[in-house]
Amino acid sequence: MTPNTILRPYGTAAIAAAADLIRSGHPVAIPTETVYGLAADATNGEAVARVYEAKGRPAFNPLIVHVLDLAAAERLAVFDDTARALAVAHWPGPLTLVLPQRAGNGIASLVTAGLDTIAIRVPAHRAMRALLITSAKPLAAPSANASGTISPTRAEHVLRTLSGRIAMVVDDGSCAVGIESTIVGSSAGHMQLLRAGPISMGALKVTNNTPITSPGQLARHYAPSKPLRLNAMSANIDEWGIGFGPIMPLRSLSTVGDLMTAAANLFDMLHTGDMSDMIGIAVAPIPFIGMGLAINDRLIRATKGPEEI
Ligand code: TXA
Ligand code: MG
Repeated sequence: MTPNTILRPYGTAAIAAAADLIRSGHPVAIPTETVYGLAADATNGEAVARVYEAKGRPAFNPLIVHVLDLAAAERLAVFDDTARALAVAHWPGPLTLVLPQRAGNGIASLVTAGLDTIAIRVPAHRAMRALLITSAKPLAAPSANASGTISPTRAEHVLRTLSGRIAMVVDDGSCAVGIESTIVGSSAGHMQLLRAGPISMGALKVTNNTPITSPGQLARHYAPSKPLRLNAMSANIDEWGIGFGPIMPLRSLSTVGDLMTAAANLFDMLHTGDMSDMIGIAVAPIPFIGMGLAINDRLIRATKGPEEI
């Protein structure tokens, strides 16, 4: 069955309708401060299976569970002092913690792809928080895009790949942060960075001395459908140029070179370039500092061919 995807502006009525869908086991796309998520009741295996199905996502790639606060998170996972300190410092916000699961937490095993750990985040966005309150369920939510495509930072981006595949999108404008959460996991008593994101390693005081172990860190991810050229000083005639700072200022992630602004604009500009009639996309160099690390991580993945997955 292919549902007609309804787009509804954020508000009490939209959240009530979304919560009804969640409780009846149907995923709903809803914004968070990072990107739009495709949310489903994390305690309902069938609902979670519909998320994988709608995204075409490999079932070994586990999902992040969103909850309202630290107390709710502690019912799902075992926190040590370090994890609790990170949660207190950064929640609600763009930080995901991968922690040992608490036995009997009721989370469907499909959410964690059978791992004994669980990824948890407390989101800050009003729409996602309203849905958590109204549905009264922990919500498993990957980014609301077909697996391997560019993440969505606006409702229209969700429709590009999921229209006809999900029942509803709650539209609350563009996402303020624009890049997926930083993921940190605990291993042998210390925290490790699993995915670069809005919260920098310096802010987290974690190490990054081992290969990325997050199973979802496929080499190719967040990818446009056309070739992407990085470190471009200018665009060729048949390329869609995306600038930064003094380079290609006419269409720029940030003409003043602000990395937070650049992150918020990144996926939107990639979507626009992808939909243009140019045959490729050329992106200006982005410095490898602070939020620039997360931006470069996403850009480098997007240049990889499917055979490199
Ligand atoms: O900002 C975000 O994190 C967004 C919003 C919607 O919250 N969500 C998001 O989800 O980016 P997704 O599914 O695109 O990425 C989840 C990542 C994947 O790389 C997955 O492998 C990793 O989290 N992950 C989930 N559970 C894990 C676990 N138990 N151990 C290691 N990595 C895990
Ligand atoms: Mg994703």
